[in-house]
Amino acid sequence: MKKKEAEKRIVQLAAELERHNHNYYVLNAPEITDFQYDLLMMELQQLEKMFPELLRKDSPTQKVGSDILPYNEIAGSLPRQFEQYPHRYPMLSLSNTYSLDELSSFNERVEKGSASPYTFSCELKFDGTAICLTYKNGRLMRALTRGDGSVGDDVTRNVLQIPSVPETLKDGSGYPDEFEIRGEIYMPYKAFDKLNRQREIEEEQPFANPRNAAAGSLKLLDPKLVKGRGLECTLYHLIVEEPVAATHIEALQKASSWGLPVSGLVKECINLDEVNEYINRWDSERKNLPYATDGIVVKVNQLALQASLGYTAKSPRWATAYKFKPEEALTKLVSIDYQVGRTGAVTPVANLEPVQLSGTKVKRASLHNADQMQLLDIHIGDYVYVEKGGEIIPKITRVEPSRRGFDIVEAVFPSHCPVCGAPLVRDEDEARHFCPNQDNCPPQIKGKFIHFIGRKAMGINAGEATVEQLYSKGYIRELSDLYKLTPELLLTLDKWKEKSVSNFIESLSKSREVPFERVLFALGIRHIGETTAKSIAMRFGDIWSISMATREELLEIDDVGAKLADSILSYFSNPLHMRIIKELEEYGLQMKVDSGKKTVQSDILKGMTIVISGNFSIPRDEMKFLVEANGGKAGSSISGNTAYMVAGEKCGPAKLEKALKLGVQIIDETQFFEMINKI
Ligand code: IVH
Repeated sequence: MKKKEAEKRIVQLAAELERHNHNYYVLNAPEITDFQYDLLMMELQQLEKMFPELLRKDSPTQKVGSDILPYNEIAGSLPRQFEQYPHRYPMLSLSNTYSLDELSSFNERVEKGSASPYTFSCELKFDGTAICLTYKNGRLMRALTRGDGSVGDDVTRNVLQIPSVPETLKDGSGYPDEFEIRGEIYMPYKAFDKLNRQREIEEEQPFANPRNAAAGSLKLLDPKLVKGRGLECTLYHLIVEEPVAATHIEALQKASSWGLPVSGLVKECINLDEVNEYINRWDSERKNLPYATDGIVVKVNQLALQASLGYTAKSPRWATAYKFKPEEALTKLVSIDYQVGRTGAVTPVANLEPVQLSGTKVKRASLHNADQMQLLDIHIGDYVYVEKGGEIIPKITRVEPSRRGFDIVEAVFPSHCPVCGAPLVRDEDEARHFCPNQDNCPPQIKGKFIHFIGRKAMGINAGEATVEQLYSKGYIRELSDLYKLTPELLLTLDKWKEKSVSNFIESLSKSREVPFERVLFALGIRHIGETTAKSIAMRFGDIWSISMATREELLEIDDVGAKLADSILSYFSNPLHMRIIKELEEYGLQMKVDSGKKTVQSDILKGMTIVISGNFSIPRDEMKFLVEANGGKAGSSISGNTAYMVAGEKCGPAKLEKALKLGVQIIDETQFFEMINKI
């Protein structure tokens, strides 16, 4: 390749890799597989090796991707949500290889730098998100994400919600006064499946794989929500000032004896043959693990040798990762089903000639959406490659053109709902098609009930199977029908006895006490999540005021964007919905905010950004609602634009310092309440 061409390609690759880094680390929504990413990176490395004069300091080959949000891209343009701290030692990445040959080059490089015999520590490469924990005098002082490698986000409060991470170490176990230990936060498959099922119900985009789910969960702003996510932690790199061991494996054993979570699957290998054996064993056995792994990490075990080998700008010279290639299989596409989900989203699902893949027989695979089908240029009768996306849901990655026969048939995405026949719609910014017939399309009606009875909604003691039965018997069509169910009717359900009937009736009756913000969420208005329901409820106070709100009024609420505002307007403009709400109110459901909680509504704080920090006599969230309900904006970090900082008990010292430095007025809870005339 000529230098001119290489130059052009390098610019292209760098831009592409930057974009994928951003998708992966910041948005937690990668568009390509790790393998495809590594191929691009390898191509760039190769070109830079051929033309060293073209190597730029800021090339993606020279730095680690950053997980820091310059501003909250997902929520809009709010300021950063986590305090940031520098890493004492940079948090680097690992060089990686897909071939055993390259592993022997790694061994040769180590051998060159070593004067005495050495061994390897072989361990699983956990597919999660990196974390750096600092313990001081036996207590977890800080947990930082990798960030950009030099500065990370402080997620201590979230990490403390992970049961395997001890807040305090075992007494008398001999830990150093202060040390760092790094590892991975990951989400086991079971928790991942549960989370995605829930997200589907709540009309939130499911996470693509457990890694993204773990990274996204760790960056949740409310630690209470992190608790329910089922995250786990494994630690694999101890950093101490004074050595506690001669080898890495002994150091891990020490960490484990202090009470820290360390993988039990680490193995010392005395030569490359043993390393290969470990790799081959886990390449197949990993499929039985309850969590995702994407390779094997091979580390020099002797810490003195690690120290003398040192680091490149991006990774240690004493370790490398052998990455597993995602397994793929070739099979024939027999037909495509178009499934209508609970939210009305239409998903094309491929029916395949059964084929063996990663230990299971695959018969169906997702085609995601119409764009993806077009991109693949897929035809019925084609031979296609299937891969386990995120190791769980198989997906079709490409068509094998050489096997295309004459009997193929064009795959046409339907224009109408395959269940109810309504013409499908597709919003400008949505990749998916939707059936708009929310109130009459059977899967959507059932979906509405499943959402309504959910734990975070009305908390009614029933599940999908009950909804299915009630629907198929024709007992429920509109949400208010639930409250019309009589014991006689319920006794006609399959396997229902008096006890189950009375439990159900009791739980229906209890649901009348569910606070209004949850009722609003339960109605299943598209795009209303739990938090937005709360903000809207607090702002307007009751359902009738919300139903009369204008677009402008709705948009004034911080977390309400155009899409949600339009969805609310469209929901309340439907007379059927108004009738159902009226009926639900008549059945005793809460349709207004509990007067104790109801916020004083005013414009007193209009144009002011107020930062709430610390603990108060009411939950911090409610303090924020009060700011918003009085026309202000609840900011999360102090800046020159902050009008006031309301400081509670144990408020953030960094915030306090910054507020003092910038001359931001600091007030306490009482002064704040006086300001909004709450007392
Ligand atoms: S050691 C100096 N060991 O994989 C880097 N990393 O792709 C030391 N990872 O950045 C890292 N399992 O986030 C190490 N057993 C393991 C690992 C592991 C997963 C992650 C880690 C690393 C990334 C590189």
